[in-house]
Amino acid sequence: MAKKLYQPNQYPSIIILDFGSQYSELIARRIREANVFSLVISHLTSVEEIKSINPDGIILSGGPSSVYENHAPLCDKEIFNLDIPILGICYGMQLMVRQLGGAVTPAKNKAEYGRAPISIDHKSSLLNKVQDQSIMWMSHGDSINQLPDDFYKIAHTSNTSHAAIANHKKNLYGVQFHPEVVHSEFGFTVIKNFLYDICNCKDNWTTETFIDESIPKIKNQVGNKKVLLALSGGVDSSTLAFLLHRAIGDQLVCMFIDQGFMRKGEPEFLMSFFDEKFHIRVEYINSRERFISKLKGVIDPEEKRKIIGTEFIRVFEEESKRLGPFDYLAQGTLYPDVIESAGTNVDPKTGERIAVKIKSHHNVGGLPKDLQFKLIEPLRKLFKDEVRKVGKNLGLPDEIVKRHPFPGPGLAIRILGEVSNEKLNCLRDADWIVRDEIKKSGLYNDIWQAFAVLLPVKTVGVMGDKRTYAWPIVLRCVSSEDGMTADWSKIPYQILEQISNRIVNEVDQVNRVVFDITSKPPGTIEWE
Ligand code: XMP
Repeated sequence: MAKKLYQPNQYPSIIILDFGSQYSELIARRIREANVFSLVISHLTSVEEIKSINPDGIILSGGPSSVYENHAPLCDKEIFNLDIPILGICYGMQLMVRQLGGAVTPAKNKAEYGRAPISIDHKSSLLNKVQDQSIMWMSHGDSINQLPDDFYKIAHTSNTSHAAIANHKKNLYGVQFHPEVVHSEFGFTVIKNFLYDICNCKDNWTTETFIDESIPKIKNQVGNKKVLLALSGGVDSSTLAFLLHRAIGDQLVCMFIDQGFMRKGEPEFLMSFFDEKFHIRVEYINSRERFISKLKGVIDPEEKRKIIGTEFIRVFEEESKRLGPFDYLAQGTLYPDVIESAGTNVDPKTGERIAVKIKSHHNVGGLPKDLQFKLIEPLRKLFKDEVRKVGKNLGLPDEIVKRHPFPGPGLAIRILGEVSNEKLNCLRDADWIVRDEIKKSGLYNDIWQAFAVLLPVKTVGVMGDKRTYAWPIVLRCVSSEDGMTADWSKIPYQILEQISNRIVNEVDQVNRVVFDITSKPPGTIEWE
């Protein structure tokens, strides 16, 4: 592991050894939904390290490999002798079986994917309150054909003789199905059985606990030094500002760099909210001219993103020197970033990191590591929904807590091609109407993002008796869980009509509105 994810006083109750499953993060989330603190760690973590964490339970995640392949990822076999309850899920179960002397082979009949009713064969605390014949979600190509000593099967499906297994003497369990996915009807029951009945975990992990634990820790870490935070107005940096301000008061200085690509009214809102209302010191840096002049003549999306990212760093460095010196830089790094950078996105066959770059994302958290600051990252163990809860608990209004995500490069990547002040003003007005109407319709909180995109082409229209020749606006509304995949939102026609009418009537230089009906993949959410 590159970095320690835990401090001695913050040991997780449950650790998830990651074998590369796309669901490892989801397992951690489900466990936290049951108010138990959990972390995903590499399957290469040594048994000594696990002993020093001393968790109440261990979960072995699924993974894309087959246990009988040459380079199949393994865990230290000694973990089965630690006297700590273990639950293996899918690959995790097969690994446990193989490492303890059983046998796993490719499934005889066929691989099993999707929903399957399970038949319960034996009473077991793992399957307590799970209904016989309830649907569980399967995704596997291998099956167990011989159990290790002292194990017996506790459930099967028509396709899999070992849908769940147990060794009650040693508190070792395995499930072939995925209890963490919502399609598994009693999946959460299985997880809670493991946590509360088998591992004796306490359900005491809440966002209040997090705040109470974080504040003294931040105070301790920072002492009487000064902390700088790049504030964007998004939920992560805003929550961080509130948390740090609660811990260290005026030792915190926030810097808000206005690159000129914010939405209508946002810079003003940010300053009045943080600085005037809550007396959190925010330095407003007006860099509008600087950014737009750098983008003159630039039409390539990646080039735009790079220029904005680089310029942001330059401004940040200059201004932090001017306002400083600062010892600490606060960053809103979240847990999913940490899991990725801990190297779990690894091809188990070759050991190579799997990372396919689609876009260079830029945000205030993306500052280079060689800046002369020590980092403070109090949110690095939280998922996004947990950050929202913390923010709300600290007194942030819904306007910030429930805000749709907004990309670091802002409106500059929602104007295709060259960015100009004229286009920015036009897009700002259209975007304002989209948000206003979506909020009025009551759909805002059900939608992941709703925004306008300006296309740099002109189309012919007619208004009154006059011919118009103006830009079209694209309306982009998507629903999503995490931004990785998305579906276009089926907005009622009446609302679409209202948005279109208002944009064409109220925004100069726009005479047409079109609706983007592309999901992700194959489209991305942003147009650039
Ligand atoms: P895409 O367009 O890649 O976007 O489907 C996925 C999610 O990420 C947001 N996004 C960004 N966020 N900096 C950010 O902080 C960026 O550079 C950036 N680019 C895209 C996008 O709004 C969506 O929620």
